[in-house]
Amino acid sequence: MSIVEKFAAMEYGPALEDPREALLWLDRHDRRFVHFIDGTWVAPAEGEYFDANDPSTGEPIAVVAQGSAKDVDAAVKAARVALPKWQSLSAHARARYLYALARQIQKHSRRLAVLETMNNGKSIRESRDLDIPLVVRHFYYHAGWAQLLPQEFPGYTACGVVGQIIPWNFPLLMLAWKIAPALATGNTVVLKPAEFTPLTALAFGEICHEVGLPAGVVNIVTGDGVPGEALVQHSGVDKIAFTGSTEVGRAIRKATAQSHKRLSLELGGKSPFVVFEDADLDSAVEGLVDGIWLNQGQVCCAGSCLLMQESIADTLMAKVRERMCTLRVGAPLDKAIDIGAIVARVQLERIQSLVAQGVAEGGTCWQPPALKIPSRGLFFPPTLLSNVHPTSSAVQQEIFGPVLTAMTFRTPREAVDLANNTIYGLAASVWSESINVALHLAAQIKAGVVWINSTNLFDAACGFGGYRESGFGREGGREGLFEYLEPSWFKQVPTTQSAAPAINQPCSVDVDLVSRPIDRTVKLYIGGKQVRPDSGYSIEVRGTDGTLLGQAPMSNRKDIRNAVEAARKAADWTTATAHGRAQVLYYIGENLTQRAEEIAGRLAAVVGRKQAEAEVQCGAERIFSYAAWADKYDGAVHNPPFRNVSLAMLEPVGTIAIICPREVPLLGFLSLVLPAIAVGNTVVVIPSERYPLITADLYQVFETSDLPEGTVNIVTGRSPELMKVLAEHADVDAIWCFADGASSATAKSLTIGNLKQVFTNEDRVVEWFNVEQGEGRWFLHHATQVKNIWVPYGE
Ligand code: NAI
Repeated sequence: MSIVEKFAAMEYGPALEDPREALLWLDRHDRRFVHFIDGTWVAPAEGEYFDANDPSTGEPIAVVAQGSAKDVDAAVKAARVALPKWQSLSAHARARYLYALARQIQKHSRRLAVLETMNNGKSIRESRDLDIPLVVRHFYYHAGWAQLLPQEFPGYTACGVVGQIIPWNFPLLMLAWKIAPALATGNTVVLKPAEFTPLTALAFGEICHEVGLPAGVVNIVTGDGVPGEALVQHSGVDKIAFTGSTEVGRAIRKATAQSHKRLSLELGGKSPFVVFEDADLDSAVEGLVDGIWLNQGQVCCAGSCLLMQESIADTLMAKVRERMCTLRVGAPLDKAIDIGAIVARVQLERIQSLVAQGVAEGGTCWQPPALKIPSRGLFFPPTLLSNVHPTSSAVQQEIFGPVLTAMTFRTPREAVDLANNTIYGLAASVWSESINVALHLAAQIKAGVVWINSTNLFDAACGFGGYRESGFGREGGREGLFEYLEPSWFKQVPTTQSAAPAINQPCSVDVDLVSRPIDRTVKLYIGGKQVRPDSGYSIEVRGTDGTLLGQAPMSNRKDIRNAVEAARKAADWTTATAHGRAQVLYYIGENLTQRAEEIAGRLAAVVGRKQAEAEVQCGAERIFSYAAWADKYDGAVHNPPFRNVSLAMLEPVGTIAIICPREVPLLGFLSLVLPAIAVGNTVVVIPSERYPLITADLYQVFETSDLPEGTVNIVTGRSPELMKVLAEHADVDAIWCFADGASSATAKSLTIGNLKQVFTNEDRVVEWFNVEQGEGRWFLHHATQVKNIWVPYGE
């Protein structure tokens, strides 16, 4: 057969990668592995082991220690002991360790690629050309951040001991995504790899040892969910970073709610792959091959949901089917195959049952008719499910296998609606030769990453992470570092329990009785209007001397619903330009200043004259600060090592519910509401329970400042009850709870349903008058989420 004929027939191969090196490595360890704790190899406390298998044969290739709570405890203790020394190293010294890790991984790259393929079932082409080079890139890139940290992140410090739990789909890459930024920012780590794929993590432990990484900086405990759960619950852990299923993500949110652990979650996805009629269809088909058949579709951001413009649907479907017929399924170590083995029997069965369900719900299943599949091992053919309904389970659920669902749309608007018709928001791919159309879609799709005319591109410089139920937090890029850093002052300030009662500015109660209005009528402020509460009840508000200052409305569930609806509809604000927002904020500042005296006079009744005046003055400054930030807090352009730029856009989170601190009724309100709206969010605010009457002063200021209706909605009442409704409300995207520790814990527990981001003071006393603590990037960071839009250039 000539080369041309072979090319046409695609009957080349097999071309098996030599596994000898990896096998020798396994044999050198007697095919038996224990935990890596405190720089040494430690047998499991309970003496239990499990098999690590090769999914392409189903055969065990090693036995690995099953971790327990005792092992996790030892690892956390080692990480805690190692922390001060690791943090006291110079930035350069830490950078050198990360650099050494990158170099060492590079030296063993082929062995690691083979080992990854043997344990995971992914094709050697992918582990060799994608996974391991990206692992190396991650350590190099973060070695750079370790070096630059003091200059680039002044005023920030490491979280401390970090527990990291990773999945099996990109075992070593997920390890790199977790460990590199954590170490670069001065944290120490306990990592738990997935039970199906522990081997490359253990090889990495060995590399840590080889480069002389100080003992305890990286600890690896293997096993199933049991050590994972123990790590989540361990009181010596400051932060949990998790990648995996949404279900376990929810369990972790619940388990950490009562603690002050930081949390980042990278969960599942159902990512749209949108093809317009003007797209280069052949490129789009190749994109689909990468989008849904990479790693057998076991990719959280897989382009599993094809949306085609109706006019090209038949042509595209024909091309997709034709291309699917050339895909090869086979031994993962064969360099000539496209699709390897599914990681474990339980995953294979899950895919089979979800496809069967898709067919039962009316979908049409197509698989290449002449496809050869190995008789042994865990394989599933590339699959196309068409005639599916947008609400069918095949479209809504993450299948996590080589299964593509296909639907059509007519207009860009319909494409956006279908693309956003999911609980997830991890990634999207948009194909159009019109840059206007593509970017227009990219801006509207709710996802953390959007690839234009490309798919499944990753780089250490470009943040990755989800919107909505795909989780929160970013990995990679500057934005990813924030997940492992916190303001230096944060851990130094007291908690509310340990603080003296006079926590902000000292307040002598010298109330000006003349300016104190008796029996003020305050209403709710919803959709730009003053409205009465649904309940018809009010709460009395009294001054420090017990005098009745007025009545604040007692809101209920219905008022909250109305407020959220108004916030959702406030398109004039969410579509305003940054310059436009800045102008309105300046105007608010101006109007507050004009009323300074009367507002301070009334506020003095509860906080004293001195604090009241300070709150008004500092509040006006804060408004001006955020007016300044509004058109300056913007994104970045990353330069990944491909012919792409990645536009890291800072988008508002959406509608944020804010529960204000008690002690500083005006300044607390402004310090939280202003950063949120400065970047384009809309808010529903529960003002200080101590002095909800501030509402009237504020809405009068807002009403005279051209703030579009619905941007700020103020609802007074019992904050724990109102917060509960807000936390459970599906249209609220984030909760900022700065009231008290118990409320913050409740907010975290109640948001398990749709995994809202929760931002709290973790029961610490924030000095709102102190600019370092009370304003700036820390708040703006929580008010935005990064969307990385990858745009190709060149021919
Ligand atoms: P999983 O979420 O159960 O496992 C991920 C990691 O969490 C593993 O290391 C596991 O040992 C650990 N874990 C399990 N239970 C835990 C607990 N209660 N506390 C702490 N850690 C725990 O994912 P699984 O079962 O392997 O896959 C099931 C489905 O999850 C897949 O079919 C897919 O839909 C989704 N998935 C999504 C991933 C992603 O990258 N977003 C990765 C892996 C799975």
